[in-house]
Amino acid sequence: MAKKRVAILISGRGSNMASLIAAAKDDGYPAQIALVLSNRPDAPGLVTAKSQGITTAVVDHTMYGKDREGFERALQDVLTAHRIELVCLAGFMRLLTPWFVGQWQGRMLNIHPALLPAFKGLHTHERALEAGVKTHGATVHFVSAEMDSGPIIAQVEVPVLPGDTADTLGARVLEAEHRIYPQALRQVAEGRA
Ligand code: GRF
Repeated sequence: MAKKRVAILISGRGSNMASLIAAAKDDGYPAQIALVLSNRPDAPGLVTAKSQGITTAVVDHTMYGKDREGFERALQDVLTAHRIELVCLAGFMRLLTPWFVGQWQGRMLNIHPALLPAFKGLHTHERALEAGVKTHGATVHFVSAEMDSGPIIAQVEVPVLPGDTADTLGARVLEAEHRIYPQALRQVAEGRA
């Protein structure tokens, strides 16, 4: 079966992007990373992607001011030009309109550093510690119009340990993210999600 052509959308560091790139190097993996696209020209993840020989592109949201749909139409043009079939959001820090989400219904994934539906939004590790949960984790889900709310594809639990800070907990969750995202993308690319 032909490998699915995947674009990874990033805004920053790109460690989840790197884990997807590493997984996709396997001959038996059902997806290839055809593009890494950033909304920030200075995203460190772009350097990592280039060093791995991956095609990169930038659509700088600041060029579009308040015209969110203009920004998204530019994103869509780049994705279309690269014949992208699946989109993985990986630390992509822009809210998406229903129009863009609709273009990618059932074909756009996101990773969130919490066990959704708990702790949607930002600062999930701080909020998990404040809430006193014993188990935290990460979720890969399909993107729907409402933030951090689409159908769940995969989750991984991570224990909260005595003395954890947001940093130590976040590092433990991030390791789990790096395992779960390639597994979830595999499921989707194989049509098993
Ligand atoms: C990850 O924690 C991811 O779950 C969240 O943003 C962070 C991105 O980190 N959506 P990285 O850029 O993948 O290293």
